[in-house]
Amino acid sequence: STPQTWSDADVYLADTLVGHDDALEAALAAQRAAGLPEIEVAPVGGKLLHLLARISGARRVLEIGTLGGYSTIWLARAVGPEGRVVTVEAEAANAAVARASIDAAGVGEQVDIRIGRGADVMPTLVGGFDLVFIDADKESNTIYLDWAAKLGHPGTVIVLDNIGREGEIVRADSTDPKVIGTRDGLRMLGTDPRFDATALQTVGIKGWDGVAIALVV
Ligand code: DHB
Ligand code: MG
Repeated sequence: STPQTWSDADVYLADTLVGHDDALEAALAAQRAAGLPEIEVAPVGGKLLHLLARISGARRVLEIGTLGGYSTIWLARAVGPEGRVVTVEAEAANAAVARASIDAAGVGEQVDIRIGRGADVMPTLVGGFDLVFIDADKESNTIYLDWAAKLGHPGTVIVLDNIGREGEIVRADSTDPKVIGTRDGLRMLGTDPRFDATALQTVGIKGWDGVAIALVV
């Protein structure tokens, strides 16, 4: 198989199972128009987040790394009218793009955007989150996982993005800070008794990557 066949199959799955969505496509268009990187989750990944939130009955969701709000909209649609998503974004310009897209999607009431680095904002949050999606700077993964456990409760679902990194995760001698941060996060999920975790590699429109899913025990 090749990256092209992965991508073609991913588009087929998205067409078949996710479908067309004006608000989400507008959010992506706004993100691209603003020059933000195209590193949001794929449509099938956004729907996975949405379904995990619904399956777990999550009402309070925390996201680290808003970018243009694409995954935020998916999560906000899962928590119900009384539910809330707190999403943390280090770049104020990104947060402005996200705010507009989230409001245009009709879920503005459910979403609280906090501008700042996750490591600075997380200690200021009130806990009780039912699902935490960590998708920010990989170098800080262990800080985010530690706070996710503190701000969660037994039963909280944690999703950690980008654990595949084109297979670079097996390179124990890598000097790439993103690879080191990813490996550190995976090691923590495997050894810290607060978590029970697994991870799945993915291929698709975002290349070869993957996602870890953990339960706070
Ligand atoms: C990167 C970050 C992401 O969150 C992602 O989904 C893909 C790539 C990155 O920083 O390289
Ligand atoms: Mg990501």
